[in-house]
Amino acid sequence: MNREDFVMLDQDIVYFDNGATTLKPKRVVDSLVNYYTKHTSNIHRGDYDAAVVTNDLYDSTREVVKNFINCNDSNEVIFTCGTTMSINMIVFGFMKKHLHKGDEVLLTKSEHASNVLPWIRLSEEIGIVIKYMDLDDDYSLSVDSVKKSITDKTKVISIAHVTNVIGDVRDIESIGKICMENNIYFCVDGAQSVPHMKVDFIKSNIDFLSFSGHKMCGPTGVGVLVGKSNLLSEMDTLFYGGGMNQFFEEDGSYELKEVPVKFEAGTPPIAEVIGLREAILYLESIGLDKIHEHEMNLKKKLVSELEKIDNIILYNKNSDSGILSFNIDGVFAQDSSIYLNHYNIYVRAGNHCAKLLKDVMGVKNTVRVSMYLYNSLEDVEKLVDVLKNSKDIFKIIL
Ligand code: ALA
Repeated sequence: MNREDFVMLDQDIVYFDNGATTLKPKRVVDSLVNYYTKHTSNIHRGDYDAAVVTNDLYDSTREVVKNFINCNDSNEVIFTCGTTMSINMIVFGFMKKHLHKGDEVLLTKSEHASNVLPWIRLSEEIGIVIKYMDLDDDYSLSVDSVKKSITDKTKVISIAHVTNVIGDVRDIESIGKICMENNIYFCVDGAQSVPHMKVDFIKSNIDFLSFSGHKMCGPTGVGVLVGKSNLLSEMDTLFYGGGMNQFFEEDGSYELKEVPVKFEAGTPPIAEVIGLREAILYLESIGLDKIHEHEMNLKKKLVSELEKIDNIILYNKNSDSGILSFNIDGVFAQDSSIYLNHYNIYVRAGNHCAKLLKDVMGVKNTVRVSMYLYNSLEDVEKLVDVLKNSKDIFKIIL
């Protein structure tokens, strides 16, 4: 749907790499062009007309984000460079202060590097213990597995809402409730969910939520960290500089501004925040439920067609998102993706930064199709046709 909004689709391509980044609708691109051609200015510094326009757009984006993910206050919204930066801020700005040697942090082996490596580094620094919760046979995480993993030392559960290879949708409402009952910090990586389905910060009792603009029709270089205000007030900033201080003196005294501005040192990604604002308004104008339903219809069709092809191995046909990971039997995943590129079908192949998943799946690399609102039944049919003829793959790519 809405294909006409995406200039990239004027080309003869099938874009199925939305888990990596999404295409940008015209109105998002226009908002960037407007900023660069009509009201270029810094924020929170200028008193001239262009600066007022830019300030208003930047500052009001917090309210747009607040309404989009339903947190309590727009001051709980911090702009970052992306999910990776958001999670690093949680781990090193908050958890480093609040966790102690022996405290347990629960993750899974299907997490992205950005939700594993910061914790590994923190365990080196202060001796926290990382535990990986068991995944079911279909590589999903059940609420039972979460319950079984909790001990009296568990202090944090940090998981993706939707994982980027299996695409399983975690029951964050139930897990959030468990966290609340057990005094556990609940950190949710929303990079693969916030763009595709309604996420409710309050209802899921999330303490910290991270997501990226570029995976939801917005520009690269901007992301969001949403945190409960009582927790943000106890979080240290990792970056010091202009815009975030009240004063500093020769004797070393200084005072920082309030949350969230104290977390946004230096010139932030202004154009990108404005683009993110437009992206959220665009997604809301379509409706997240409609987007999710559309992706699920396409995925069901794709699965039913690929199941008819002998040499295709599917790894996650039942997960409730528009992500499908597969291999052509006996073919290296990257070769499959080069083959698909020959027909202008864009997918991602590899381990997708979820490098522990191989221990559970027994497969290191997969081909991943990840869908979005502008994918069509014709896209699915083209992929199926090309895969049906994949017996000739090596003639084509060699
Ligand atoms: N995290 C992105 C992906 O899954 C880059 O492709």
